[in-house]
Amino acid sequence: MDFKQHIVTRLADLTGLDKETVTNAVETPPEEKLGDLAFPCFTLARVMRKAPPLIAKELAEQLAADELIDRVEAVGGYLNFFYNRALFISDTVKAVTAAGEDWGKSDIGAGKTVLVEYSSPNIAKPFHIGHLFSTAVGNSLARIYKFLGYDVVSLNHIGDWGTQFGKLISAYKRWGDPKKIEQDPTGELLKIYVKFHDEAAKHPELEDEAREYFKRLEDGDEETTALWRYFRDQSLVEFKRIYDMLGVSFDSYNGEAFYSDKMDEAVGILRDSGLLVESDGAQVVDLSDMNMPPCIILKSDGATIYATRDIAAALYRHRTYNFHKNIYVVGIPQSLHFRQIFETMRRIGWEWSKDCVFVGFGLVKLPGKNMSTRHGDVVFLEDVLNESIEKTREIIINNGSAVDDIDDVSKKIGIGAVIYTFLKNSREKDIIFSWDTMLDFDGESAPYCMYGYARGRSILRKAQGLDYSGADMSAAVSDEAYTLVKLINGYGDAVADAADRNEPFYVNRYVTSLVKAFNKFYNTNPIMRDDVDDEVKKARLCIVDATCGVIKSALSLLGISVVESM
Ligand code: ARG
Repeated sequence: MDFKQHIVTRLADLTGLDKETVTNAVETPPEEKLGDLAFPCFTLARVMRKAPPLIAKELAEQLAADELIDRVEAVGGYLNFFYNRALFISDTVKAVTAAGEDWGKSDIGAGKTVLVEYSSPNIAKPFHIGHLFSTAVGNSLARIYKFLGYDVVSLNHIGDWGTQFGKLISAYKRWGDPKKIEQDPTGELLKIYVKFHDEAAKHPELEDEAREYFKRLEDGDEETTALWRYFRDQSLVEFKRIYDMLGVSFDSYNGEAFYSDKMDEAVGILRDSGLLVESDGAQVVDLSDMNMPPCIILKSDGATIYATRDIAAALYRHRTYNFHKNIYVVGIPQSLHFRQIFETMRRIGWEWSKDCVFVGFGLVKLPGKNMSTRHGDVVFLEDVLNESIEKTREIIINNGSAVDDIDDVSKKIGIGAVIYTFLKNSREKDIIFSWDTMLDFDGESAPYCMYGYARGRSILRKAQGLDYSGADMSAAVSDEAYTLVKLINGYGDAVADAADRNEPFYVNRYVTSLVKAFNKFYNTNPIMRDDVDDEVKKARLCIVDATCGVIKSALSLLGISVVESM
């Protein structure tokens, strides 16, 4: 039953306004005591030539309560509707039970492909905490779009091409030790890469050597290509270990190198469209009329760069996937780069470039020294995740909780806590990484939400043997039950909002409010206590069951797993 739709129809019939106008006008009142839905009468005032409070009063008198509407009140210029709570609760809980894991899903995305590019670390440069931010946001968006029925393709645009590979090859030939690299690919490759820079400062001829190696790589020379592949493969083993910990996977790892043989075509198209102009020997697209620096396509030595590869990649994606949206989850410092390439593509006449979306995120600040690092200033993701897991384990032991498998539980909570931190606020906000906040079991955190789920599951375990299906839900009506069920009802809207704005934090905020409302519910509406009437017990259990399902589903959209007890 759609309560809102029902009220819209009745209002439209009564006022003569069309349904669309009414739908756009109705709003959710700021406070629950003002009802469930409000209709502002201000626009009608002009047509009816009466004061809004008078119109509200007259409409309230004409609108009799019915099965769905408990009562209508006029307050100021607003008409406030109060739903029939018993019906709303039983209707929603029944719908959730029937839908099961599909509750909140939609088919709005059917037949449309959304590409989500995220994580995209670089080989031989640090896989830093910003890449974890991208991974958390992108993985969540991919799950959200899938939930809404889109065909989702997740892309990891690995930084595996560019002049740094010439430097790396030169460094490897001098100081490389395969044993060390295989043990710790990112750390070791970074180490010899840094050493190369130090040495090159003293011996500039090293730079020429590196340039020569990259040239050979671009020309497909066998030996350098084999080395390049070795660095890439070794790094991917490490990246995948982290992705496994996070429960993240990709449909494609085609990185920048994949487009190296696709750039000539892109450059040709740019040239033919007359967009390329010369500037200090380089070929660029002039964007000064948009107050942007030029988009460099070919450097003065004829080499292509990051932007060229991105333009070639976008064209490839368009042809391969015919995407509805091509989303890039990348840090805000690169927003100019994306504005430049999107504008360049628009000028080529690629009409689909309007469907390329830059989804930026803020910086991660690490306060003080409470984050351990293996490699000096660079924070390695695996260290962060492992530290979180260890700290969680300590908390569980100190709390004296009885859990079956402390390894599994600490891992899920520890990793969930890190992911939650990245999705807690609007993604453009900077993040201050703090263990205390992240692992605060009573605060807004993953452990808090996961505890809500575990608590619900433990109530349901206690109720084993009691058949509560088909309970009479009117026995469960209370303010707390109503608030909770209304939230459950709004799950699909929260997910749709998150997709509309590419903001997983809408789902994060949603699930946190849901757990808060659930806490309040079970603390004030006893469930398995002996003195609770059986009918009331059953009806409340139905609500607990529905809530657990939605918490689990919403957390999974964030990339966070649940545990049965903690
Ligand atoms: N590898 C880049 C970095 O770490 C991010 C890649 C972003 N994606 C792209 N299509 N340019 O900064």
